[in-house]
Amino acid sequence: RAASAVVAQSTWLFTGTIADNRRRGNATRDEQWCKDRERGGLSAMKIAVVGSNMVDLTAYITRMPAPGETLEAPDFALGCGGKGANQAVAAALCGADVMMVSRVGADIFADNTIRNFQIYGVDTTHVKKVEGMSSGVAPIFVDQHGQNSILIIKGANNALTPAEVDAAEANIRSCGLIILQLEIPLETVYHTIELGRRSGIPVLLNPAPATKELAIDRVCACDFFVPNETELAILTEMPTATQEDVEHAATFLLEKGLKNVIVTLGERGVLWMTKAEKYYVPACRVDATDTSGAGDAFIGCFSSCYVQDGDVLAAIRKASAFAALSVTRKGTQMSYPDRAAFAAFLAQQGRH
Ligand code: RIB
Repeated sequence: RAASAVVAQSTWLFTGTIADNRRRGNATRDEQWCKDRERGGLSAMKIAVVGSNMVDLTAYITRMPAPGETLEAPDFALGCGGKGANQAVAAALCGADVMMVSRVGADIFADNTIRNFQIYGVDTTHVKKVEGMSSGVAPIFVDQHGQNSILIIKGANNALTPAEVDAAEANIRSCGLIILQLEIPLETVYHTIELGRRSGIPVLLNPAPATKELAIDRVCACDFFVPNETELAILTEMPTATQEDVEHAATFLLEKGLKNVIVTLGERGVLWMTKAEKYYVPACRVDATDTSGAGDAFIGCFSSCYVQDGDVLAAIRKASAFAALSVTRKGTQMSYPDRAAFAAFLAQQGRH
């Protein structure tokens, strides 16, 4: 993700039938969401995050040390992170009722991670400790432009098996959306997508970190596929440097059977494509301090907005504002705004 100091306002415009529908007042309510609503129940507002948690060890650096070199870094922060946990916290901050299915190690980090979820109101019934394993840990390096480089040591996240998802199935079935990422075993991801399909629950997959081992044909049942441009390039083995490149790569995934491809493009905004429609949402103009966790902020906020009214486009607009505000502050979860700060930013950006 480019981390320029100023995230430029994109000139990309909306196109296609979504725009037409909006003008006609049909909004962009997602069909799956409408079906869930017809089935009734406030549970459509609840979100299950089946995914990772990590302890983020963030070094703010002037440059990466050369091999054999010891270099002083000006600042350090310790925080709760992990793509799944970040997305759960962002969704909760945006008003969703969130349950987490995750694994922590049997170490000094475990209780803090669980307590952190609880502070944000995330249901931790299915966050369990794994004996003999360490918690997931992520050394993060953030440069002077706010750009991040992340290493992950998955630890107990590797112990989140399909059986653990089955143990949480009754709870997951009460949700209106399942969110997944790739910091847990791929078999667990495939298994959870199948659970969503069987139960008629929409599934959002954030294919991060991207791996060529991901079998696209085994994730086609998910409703939303949300990579950034780097992940899109890795997964499709196609370039994503230009707007045209990104659309080609997204089209490639749609032709494989995915329904909604939403590509987060940093300063270039967000592209949402289906087989029939495409829409660009421009980025908000902000000064970037630390871009780590911004993609997770987008996904958590998008999910929270989506389960409230099924309006995909409005959810993307709000989520890109939530992510933009997060990059103005240091840290991952620590950078996510509370309701008041987010409402003020939305009003300032004209996105409320
Ligand atoms: O997306 C940011 C996250 O990636 C960090 O919180 C880190 O833990 C890694 O999982």
